[in-house]
Amino acid sequence: MIAKDREWSSPSYIKEYPFVMAGGQGAMAEDVDGNRYIDFMTGIAVSATGYNHPEIVAAVREAAGKFLHVCATDFYYEGMAQLCERLAKSWPGKEKKRVFLANSGTEAVEGAIKLARFVTRRPYIIAFEGAFHGRSYAAMSVTASKVKYREGFGPFLPVVHLPYDNPYRPAPWRERMEELFETRTSPKEVAAVMMEPILGEGGYVMPGAEFLKTWRKVCDDHGIMLVFDEIQCGMGRTGKLWAFEHAGVEPDVLLTAKGLGSGLPIGAIVAKEKWMSWPRGSHGTTFGGNPVSCAAALKTLDLMESGLLKNAQAMGERLLKGLKELQMKHPSIGDVRGVGLMIGLEFVKDRKTKEPDHDLVEKLELRAFEKGLLLLSCGKSVIRIAPPLVLTSYDVDAGLSIIDEALSELGA
Ligand SMILES: Cc1ncc(COP(=O)(O)O)c(C=O)c1O
Repeated sequence: MIAKDREWSSPSYIKEYPFVMAGGQGAMAEDVDGNRYIDFMTGIAVSATGYNHPEIVAAVREAAGKFLHVCATDFYYEGMAQLCERLAKSWPGKEKKRVFLANSGTEAVEGAIKLARFVTRRPYIIAFEGAFHGRSYAAMSVTASKVKYREGFGPFLPVVHLPYDNPYRPAPWRERMEELFETRTSPKEVAAVMMEPILGEGGYVMPGAEFLKTWRKVCDDHGIMLVFDEIQCGMGRTGKLWAFEHAGVEPDVLLTAKGLGSGLPIGAIVAKEKWMSWPRGSHGTTFGGNPVSCAAALKTLDLMESGLLKNAQAMGERLLKGLKELQMKHPSIGDVRGVGLMIGLEFVKDRKTKEPDHDLVEKLELRAFEKGLLLLSCGKSVIRIAPPLVLTSYDVDAGLSIIDEALSELGA
């Protein structure tokens, strides 16, 4: 299977290690040889309800049995209207929201940038160092996590990247912001600030609340649209439906995808009504808001509300505690951070110099894979722990002991 894939698929795919999926259940994934793994990466933070939650499968079967497609841009159907209402109301706060349904994360980002430009008629976007927003053009333009995502693809949209607040590796984010507005770009020409309220691909970094509050104020003062890309950190991953709820800073526009459809492709732009003011025909999609994906998303939201958010909080605390204990034992673990089931483990060569240890991360991924745990890296030398929200305490403890064993064997 691997040989066939290598022969026929685009060489741009990364393929972290030779895992060939055959099936799964809850937080367990099984490969084609019948090996079973505990899953701490969830197809990059997607299968939030596990690989085949019976209620999701039933909802998908029921919707598929009715009709597989009718274009949301031109016609009406119940699942779409329900999901738009549900997402609009999912976000606390008094102002009414409206929702645009897309196919993926990058398409939601693309739409949000179009919306910001359309409403403000301004050219610039501010985004952050370490950010990942997707692979289509506007999304690539705001991405700055790894140069390989951009090399050879320019020129891009006019985007200014500024430092993100990283408590483990402090950066002068406020000074750089002030300097930008004083010397190069007027805030009056900025359409949107695009931000992940917790950095995903860039290293699972949780900024301080001050960072989010400051950018909220800048946007309010200058009529800039504040967009939170919660494609990775949202949909219950942090133990609250939306990550921004932890900091208490509200965006103007929220983007979601990944976990929303429990694996079925769907994304959404949720915007305050005063911002989502583009007229009929100005933006649309053929497949976005597919009826089967809508059914999966509605059931995913039900499951979040009926217990998965609580489970993410409880299992997240157990994981964080266990990982902090491992940090005391293994000097290579420089930092353990996160909330709910979005936890970053940063590996360093030396705790004082904090020099990233990328090689160790690769070795750990492989060793854990051989021992039955699926891990995925991000940032320079971070393992992102992003298990499904159906994780049990058995899964947590077994996963922790595999990480412990693997690190001991690697002498780290
Ligand atoms: C924060 C964030 N935004 C956007 C995207 C792009 O989403 P997609 O791969 O569905 O296009 C990702 C994907 O990893 C992401 O993590």
